[in-house]
Amino acid sequence: MSSALLTLPALIDPHVHFRVPGGEHKEDWRTGAAAAIAGGVTTVLDMPNNNPACTTKERLEEKKRLIDAQLAEVGIPLRYGLYLGASEKTVSEIENARGGYIGIKVFLGQSTGDLLMDNDTAFEEVCHTAARLGTIVAVHAEDEKIMQNLKASLSPESLTNVRVHSRIRGREAAITAMKKAIALGKKYGTKLYILHASTKEEVALIRQAKHDGVTIALETTPHHLFLNESAYETLGTKAQMNPPLRTPEDQAALWEGLMDGTIDTIGTDHAPHTLEEKGQPYGKAPSGVPGIETLLPLLLTAVRDGKLTLDRFMAVTRTNAEKFFDLPSNDDTVVVDMNTVRPVRGSTFKTKCGWSPFEGWELVGWPAYTVLRGKKVESTTASRRGPAKGGRK
Ligand code: DOR
Ligand code: ZN
Repeated sequence: MSSALLTLPALIDPHVHFRVPGGEHKEDWRTGAAAAIAGGVTTVLDMPNNNPACTTKERLEEKKRLIDAQLAEVGIPLRYGLYLGASEKTVSEIENARGGYIGIKVFLGQSTGDLLMDNDTAFEEVCHTAARLGTIVAVHAEDEKIMQNLKASLSPESLTNVRVHSRIRGREAAITAMKKAIALGKKYGTKLYILHASTKEEVALIRQAKHDGVTIALETTPHHLFLNESAYETLGTKAQMNPPLRTPEDQAALWEGLMDGTIDTIGTDHAPHTLEEKGQPYGKAPSGVPGIETLLPLLLTAVRDGKLTLDRFMAVTRTNAEKFFDLPSNDDTVVVDMNTVRPVRGSTFKTKCGWSPFEGWELVGWPAYTVLRGKKVESTTASRRGPAKGGRK
């Protein structure tokens, strides 16, 4: 079939983990930026669960210096924003570091790294302060105490199978945490950005909150849209992420929310870990999957299949994030091929981790090239051929 090239606004990924500083063996901004461009993404918002965690003005400034040096090295002037991590001891940094971050990131449940806010009073203080300063609070909504209790109630044997991940991090944890965030948003008028919604109940809660006039935006991820718990059978710990995969019914609710405007954005939660790390048994393997190079073809294949309209695609991958985070507008574009079907091959990707949970999926809409700040950057990912090299460490 002949190629059908289509020019689209380049994508904004409001949720990536490019691992600088402290996780450079998984990803850095040389490989992360190349992966973004190969995926048609020209703006990323990067998370603070680094090592050390990015919780102060000083650490933000140091992180920016490292990023700018790496981007200069590879000659990719990627657009980016950084989140400031919230911790109980550094709430004053919200004001101190003002102007240097795109939003405050709160982990209500533990995930990769040591950022955690399981103290209700501190979370309330963060929401209150952020509202006063007009700053966005981005919430990882999973309740730590509920997850700890669920884990304690399970037998040691059951804790060895990765499928238990979806039980430990059960839907109640997500629903409770989201209710807490919405209540504070209502109380203080905080601008809330709810990350990676995974359950049908969360979609319903946000639909209601928007109806009630709360300033809130909802994100979901490609993996929660395209995968469900059955993926543990084939992918094992490669299907382990936080929040975990859910049921086909939840997936259907996410697609509905995407189409009716309840879901505002798709963030990849690009969370690279090496194949070696992911190959460890459950309990040792870290949570998270890479996604920045498969976002565009997954969604455009859904457009081809009639599951998503091109209008909604552009809203959730670009314009909604631009508006909500008040990003300066730009003319970046991505040119995609809607006719050529190609399989996902993680080993050909630019991301340092070199694998994908969508390995082998036959997709359309791979980028031919991306235009960043008026300059054309060829995408070699889709056209690179040759035997798989296996994961890089
Ligand atoms: O699966 C996840 N991985 N969820 C998170 O919240 C963090 C992320 C990571 O940084 O690896
Ligand atoms: Zn994340």
